[in-house]
Amino acid sequence: MTTQRSRPPRGLFITLEGIEGCGKSTQARLLGEYLRSQGLVTVETREPGGTPLAEKIRSAMLDRADEPVAAETEAFLVFAARRQHVAQVIEPALARGAVVLCDRFSDSTLAYQGYARGLNVSLLERLNRLASHAVTPDLTLLFDLPVATGLARRRSAAETNRLDRESLRFHHKVRAGFLDLATRHPNRMKVVPARASKETVARAVTRIIAPMLSRVRQAMNEAAGSRTSSPRTTKARHALR
Ligand code: TMP
Repeated sequence: MTTQRSRPPRGLFITLEGIEGCGKSTQARLLGEYLRSQGLVTVETREPGGTPLAEKIRSAMLDRADEPVAAETEAFLVFAARRQHVAQVIEPALARGAVVLCDRFSDSTLAYQGYARGLNVSLLERLNRLASHAVTPDLTLLFDLPVATGLARRRSAAETNRLDRESLRFHHKVRAGFLDLATRHPNRMKVVPARASKETVARAVTRIIAPMLSRVRQAMNEAAGSRTSSPRTTKARHALR
């Protein structure tokens, strides 16, 4: 007979992915507002970044300096940032029963450094297990729209980074990579058409999320219960907001 160990309470880990200009950051903010209006605790964060050290790595990686950057260098930078972010922000927040909303995560590494830059995807997946401490999103929202639409939005934005300025061909490979990942992981990844207004896209997101909320409420209550029965205090670590 197998003994069932009780699993520690765990919040919900949601990642938001897509090509440049797909609107995921706006949707992360709207989703955060919706979840808090439902009484849930949220942590909104991003990759690369989310801790002081990981944000420094982000600046180094996305800087528009003239020095060429190898695909492997990019991969090691995002993995180093991820390891720090998972340990300092994501795992503690999930242990508190929070809903973590992360603007980009592992699928971006596979799409950008794998499908678009040409690094071996299964090698990246293995390295990613180490970097992410095997923490996997419960849900990944893939905001999909044509590359030209995304880039037109992004290039009119004040700030563009080193990767925004890659060729059209590169961005097409990123989009195709994301869509391929969505077909490989249909349970975890949901494709959200992102060409519509932000309100319409947000309604589509709410329809996907709503059925998952009762589980996270239960995890939040269990986490609160275990905190009151133990003198250990958890430090609130809020990544960005
Ligand atoms: P953004 O989040 O503002 O879109 O910018 C992040 C940039 O970093 C974006 O161009 C994609 C890139 N990136 C990677 O290339 N690999 C990764 O693993 C992650 C998380 C981001």
